[in-house]
This record gives sequence, structure tokens and C-alpha cells, in this order.
Amino acid sequence: MQIHEHYPLKAQNTFGFDVKARYYAEPSSLEELKSLFSDIFFRELPLVALGEGSNLLFCRDFEGLVVHPRFMEITSTALPNSEVMISAGAGVIWDSLVAHCVAQAWGGLENLSGIPGTVGAAPIQNIGAYGAEVKDTITEVEAIRLDSLETIRFSNADCGFGYRDSIFKQAWKNKLLITKVSFCLSTQSKLNIQYDSLSKLLQAMPKIGIQEVRETVLQIRKEKLPDPAEIGNAGSFFKNPTVTEATALALQARYPQLTVYPTGKGQAKIPAGWLIEQCGWKGKQRGRVGVHKAQALVLVNYGGGTGEEILQLAAAIQQSVAERFNIALEMEVNVV
Ligand code: EPU
Repeated sequence: MQIHEHYPLKAQNTFGFDVKARYYAEPSSLEELKSLFSDIFFRELPLVALGEGSNLLFCRDFEGLVVHPRFMEITSTALPNSEVMISAGAGVIWDSLVAHCVAQAWGGLENLSGIPGTVGAAPIQNIGAYGAEVKDTITEVEAIRLDSLETIRFSNADCGFGYRDSIFKQAWKNKLLITKVSFCLSTQSKLNIQYDSLSKLLQAMPKIGIQEVRETVLQIRKEKLPDPAEIGNAGSFFKNPTVTEATALALQARYPQLTVYPTGKGQAKIPAGWLIEQCGWKGKQRGRVGVHKAQALVLVNYGGGTGEEILQLAAAIQQSVAERFNIALEMEVNVV
């Protein structure tokens, strides 16, 4: 396996920032990964595990080691009760796994169609969309500990999943590399089509199955979210903030058009896109970066912009939202 130096990452982060990695490697087997980390020089460097770079913001060149795992195997095992266990290597492109499963009539991942990124990155931020989260189907996450190079397996409960959160972003951050993820899918899975925009479009269809759900999700995403191949972006830049139900209701009394999403335990989520739009940021451009015109939660690089410019824009948005609504917006992307 070649270890590259001063490796360009422009094509490997969906913001399209023109930065370089001091060292860069693409292990395609556990042996290659272990041999890389058995060298103390590489083990002690700051590390970034890179999938498709769809949730990362590089502020400048990275003076460490970027590892892009290329474990590409997909296996399936039939289980009783119409269930099937799928295991996929960390390097598999997330949407190609979803397409494969939908084509085989294995249900459970279809609401997560079209999300950029790789299988290995999916559990880290517990990717979610259109009423589903990847935690709903994950049974096991396999990883290599970087200190001992031992294989470590996490059950679903071990992963500490939360909204855009997991133990891999917390206690295990930078201490392991995910190699494989297993999912329990079903040929009899119940469709999950409660999400407002999804159910509205599906209602008009004569037949609804997982293929129709996938196609409809892809259609909604195309209308709302910019394609990183055309405009640099990393999907939602901020998380939807959670506030107390009392705060949410008070806000709704002032703004009756606002939809809030109760999450139980006296809390509710407020759509960050709505807060940002109310502050007048939707569609605004600042130099080479800006706020997307169809989804205010998405910050974009129109070309030639930098991570620092995006961070300055993000800080200005956070300040506006804090001043007007007294709500703190937390970033969803990982800043390197
Ligand atoms: N809204 C606005 N203005 C905007 C954007 C949204 O008022 O500019 C309002 C909408 O009218 C709607 C509500 O906000 O009432 C929710 O909007 P939407 O359905 O577009 O979803 P979101 O909360 O903005 C979340 C995820 C997305 C995911 C969608 C669909 C987060 C941080 N983002 O966005 O995930 O695709 O739901 O389920 O939770 C990502 O993580 O990168 C991502 C794109």
C-alpha cells in the first residue's frame, strides 16, 4: 500500500476545499491497515478517517494522516422470520448499499436513500433522514483499536446512538477505525412513511413499496439539497436544536406557521432551517460562500471558498439566531 505525501483532498471533501493531507493512505485489507498502524510514526500522528468527506470541513492543510478505508465487501445471510443480515465494508458507498438492498427487496434502509458518504461513516453521526436513522437497523459495528490493533465489536446498544451522535464521536473519537457495519433488514419490513413531505408525495401513487419510497426520497432530496458535484456543501451544517417543550410552545404561539417536533421527556426539536430563514439568511451569499437558496440549513461553497470563510459565515448565523431567538445552534459537520 502506498503512503502518499502532500496528497490533494479537493476531490475528497464535498465542500471542494483545496487542501492537502501531509500523509494519505487507502488500506484495502485489515492487514494493510494493521501494518500502517504498527508503525509508531503513523500511529502517533493526528488522524482523520475519511469516507466521502461529506461531513467534514477542512480549514487548512492537514498535518497528519488521512486514512481512506477501501473495505468493499458486502455479504448477506438469510435469517428466520423473513430477516436478512447484511454486512458491508466501511469503504462501500452508502447509497450503493441502499440501492443494492432495495433491489433485493430487503427493506429498512430505503428512507436513507441518497445520503452522501460511506458505510463506515454512517454510524459515527447516526445518519438520519425522512423519519429513519441508521441506528434503527444496525446490529453491529466492527472496528480496529488504534492502540492495540485488536478488533473490537460494538452491539447496537454499545454504540450510544443519539440524534446525529454516537460513542464514535464521543469516548472513542480518534481511537479506532470502523471496518465493517452489519444491519438487520427484512423482506416484510413495515414501510416508514410518516414524514410529512414523504407521505404527501407517496399518497398519489397507486402502489407503495420500498422502491417507491427510495425514488420519492431521492426526488425530495434533489429538490431541496444541492448536489455536491455541482455546488460544494456538506448537507445540514447545523443540528436541529432541542429545547424544552415550554420554549417550543412559546415560540409557536408567536409564530403559528412554525412546526415543532416533540421528542419526549418534555423536549422538542425546532427546525434550524426555519430559524436561519427567519433571520434572513436563506439564499444569502458572502463572497465565495453562502446559504443555500432552497434549504437554509445547508452552507455552500460556490467555488474557491475556504473552510475559514464557511466558519465565519456559520458564526454570523449562530449570532443572529442567538440574538433573535435565544437558541444556540450546534454545528453538525466535523471541523478539521
Ligand atoms: N425549513 C424552513 N426553511 C428552510 C429549511 C427548512 O422553514 O430553509 C423547515 C421546513 O419547512 C420544515 C422543517 O424546517 O418544517 C424541516 O425541514 P426538512 O424536512 O427539510 O428537514 P431538516 O430538519 O431541515 C433534517 C436533516 C436532514 C434530512 C432531513 C429530512 C438534520 C440536521 N438534518 O433536515 O439531514 O435530510 O431532515 O429528514 O437533522 C444531513 O444531516 O446532512 C441532512 C441533510
